[in-house]
Amino acid sequence: MKFFIDTANLKEIQEANDLGILDGVTTNPSLMAKEGITGKQNILDHYVAICNIVDGPVSAEVISTDYAGMVLEGEHLASLHKNIVVKIPMIPEGIKAIKYFSEKGIETNCTLVFSAGQALLAAKAGATYISPFLGRLDDISTNGLDLIAQIRLIYDNYAFNTQILAASIRHPMHIINCAEIGSDVMTGPLSAIKALAKHPLTDLGLQQFLADHAKGNS
Ligand code: E4P
Repeated sequence: MKFFIDTANLKEIQEANDLGILDGVTTNPSLMAKEGITGKQNILDHYVAICNIVDGPVSAEVISTDYAGMVLEGEHLASLHKNIVVKIPMIPEGIKAIKYFSEKGIETNCTLVFSAGQALLAAKAGATYISPFLGRLDDISTNGLDLIAQIRLIYDNYAFNTQILAASIRHPMHIINCAEIGSDVMTGPLSAIKALAKHPLTDLGLQQFLADHAKGNS
């Protein structure tokens, strides 16, 4: 499973990249705003800064909601760096834009996916990735993992190449459960990625090893 980090924070992106396990980055307009990145040029520059840290796909989201606007914006985003993936919302105009980019060989990430039907449409349009938001489904008492499993089944039935990018990850169990289901990618916060490494028995065991070594070498 590929690991993407879901943030626009350059420090966190650098820290995750330094771990050596980072495959890519996803951002969205809310994450950009959270970092105080505003204004068209600043936002574009920030995408380039992210691409300069991570050698992997970096999702950059369009703001337009009409086909022509998405095409114009997406083409510009894609021209910024070879690793940019154009992130497009799951709306009818978005499906048309995904089809356009797919025919042009430009990678896309269909975002705000909350149902199997939406995932099927995006795959038929040729999306490179689809982002089901599992945490947001959990937030409204709907099992987000069930959706990931349903999409996995459908894509396998027809050998769709579209990759399932499990998004809106909230904690390490989401990551593990997505890996069990066979999600191609997960995107989550640095805290959830780092939490995978934590185990009290590891900490206790290491403490003991170091103490025993110190005893024998003092
Ligand atoms: C995905 O690409 C989105 O940026 C993200 O995962 C949304 O997560 P949230 O529900 O925590 O905002």
